Amino acid sequence: MSIKNIAVAFTMGALASAGVAGGALAADPVPFKVGYFTGYSGPFALSGQEADAAINAFLKEHGDVVAGRKIVIIRRDTTGPNPDVVHRLAQELISREHVDVLVAGDYTPNALAMAGPSTQAKVPVLIANAATTSILDRGKYMARLGFTTSQVAVPYAKWAVAHGYKRIFAIYTDYGPGIEAGAAFKKSFAEAGGTLVGEVKPPLRSPDYSAYVQRAKDSDPQAIFIFAPAGEHPQAFLKAYADSGLKEKGVKILATGDLTDENQFDALGDGTIGMYTVFHYSEDHDSALNKLFVKDFYSFAPAHTRPDFGGTCTYDVFAAIYKLLEAQGGKWDPDKTIELIKGMKFESPRGPILVDQNRDIVQNVYIRETRKVDGKLQNVEIDTIPMVDDHGNQVKTN
Ligand code: PHB
Repeated sequence: MSIKNIAVAFTMGALASAGVAGGALAADPVPFKVGYFTGYSGPFALSGQEADAAINAFLKEHGDVVAGRKIVIIRRDTTGPNPDVVHRLAQELISREHVDVLVAGDYTPNALAMAGPSTQAKVPVLIANAATTSILDRGKYMARLGFTTSQVAVPYAKWAVAHGYKRIFAIYTDYGPGIEAGAAFKKSFAEAGGTLVGEVKPPLRSPDYSAYVQRAKDSDPQAIFIFAPAGEHPQAFLKAYADSGLKEKGVKILATGDLTDENQFDALGDGTIGMYTVFHYSEDHDSALNKLFVKDFYSFAPAHTRPDFGGTCTYDVFAAIYKLLEAQGGKWDPDKTIELIKGMKFESPRGPILVDQNRDIVQNVYIRETRKVDGKLQNVEIDTIPMVDDHGNQVKTN
């Protein structure tokens, strides 16, 4: 039994011996504390707005009490990819606030910074975005509800060759998810018969893409494969691409969906029309649950904030927390929680999802084309690769 569960039992026992009726007990349980981490300030503030709208949508639909425990969310600002800040704040939330679970809402280095505190204190970490496969090797109480870049890059390379893109230049950011995306794409592309004509690895911080796009131009590719994290990178890359004249030459962009994040469409503009991307979520996804999520999201979102992969996966993290807490009757044993999450399967606004025995996500991977739908830029799904694991392999799920 964890310290917190002892606390629940103690409170219940104390109230019972004081003669409080059963009905009153349920009204005053020990709250269940979620420590939610993402960017809430500066250039990263959009992530926080996205997360909050998604969380509010979930709470509107499902309430804030689960198995008798009130859900309390403690938000912390990562201030961008800042593992030192996150390590300190994660430790503080565990030791002072006694959080039951941590949520890694943004970058890989930040999720990695939670691994040590999580393992030491046995506090599970649910990953809503950080997309590097190897993160899970670092903490046995970590599980992923987001995506991995290999998961989308492997099927994308096969799709590219099958659609006639056989000479590709690769651009991927020089840190975890970029390095894994590049390796996965190259291997899968070569196996499918494609030729990589060159590659570059821009840095995570403040990249100027003009020199990298020039390198691509010099290699005379049919298309550019790019992974760059959502946020500052897409605008910088697309500006360099527009300035380079590559679009007029017919050199296509084949990007991961981070590049056409719905949240950034206003800033990116119509230059994105016709681009192909691969991802696990599109605002335009056609399902009843997604329509509900999108509607509720907009009822809380500030102007210009649109539902995207970060918001959806945050919504799903809360869905998982509610299921895990319910399955334990309001208790939260870390080992049991991790056992229960293995094999957990449910419908997300992105489609069906499953957490596998490696604590990693299995989900549909969608090829999308940017189009205007009812006057609004959207990632329109044009192809689906069903139930792909974190290494990019399709798996049977039933
Ligand atoms: C990551 O750091 O893992 C990451 C960040 C932003 C993205 C995708 C992955 O858009």
